[in-house]
Amino acid sequence: MSFTLPDLPFSHDALENLGMSKETLEFHHDLHHKAYVDNGNKLIAGTEWESKSVEDIIMGTYDGGSVAQNGIFNNASQHWNHTQFWQMIGPNGKAMPAVLEKEISNNFGSFEKFKEEFTAAGAGQFGSGWCWLVQDQDGSLKVTKTENGVNPVCFNQNTLLGCDVWEHSYYIDFRNKRPAYLSNFIDKLVDWESVASRLK
Ligand SMILES: [Fe+2]
Repeated sequence: MSFTLPDLPFSHDALENLGMSKETLEFHHDLHHKAYVDNGNKLIAGTEWESKSVEDIIMGTYDGGSVAQNGIFNNASQHWNHTQFWQMIGPNGKAMPAVLEKEISNNFGSFEKFKEEFTAAGAGQFGSGWCWLVQDQDGSLKVTKTENGVNPVCFNQNTLLGCDVWEHSYYIDFRNKRPAYLSNFIDKLVDWESVASRLK
């Protein structure tokens, strides 16, 4: 199945006052995400992966060791990651649904402890990558971090929330201040209703 760039679920200037500018979204969605889609489509054309779902491609091409060399994995996973990312943020959905609040509290002690762990994971990811809130196979919630395009699909984890810590995600609005970008992401950008809807 070829990859398609999804439209943003909000206008490019919808997050302007929430710490993600129109310029960032024009670069991040219209150029960076589009490049993963276009490059991925070129790489899977004529291969066994052409007819597979993006999740199957990610699981089938992740080898845990030579990700930097694996163009199909990198582009497929980054396409998937960004598609999730646009759905997890937005101008609405700021109220935390009770079911998610309870899960976070049970697993991390409090929302503040979760935020601390999540932002530390993102700030501590050396180089490009992502930090995640995942639901593991035993149902427990965990914070993880991954390099480059690696994501929870590789580990059979349910993705609840992901934050892109590649520089292209924050350099226009926050320059080199990744921790400030992460804190703003949690405080102002996350659509908690979308996150809660992913719980299994
Ligand atoms: Fe990105």
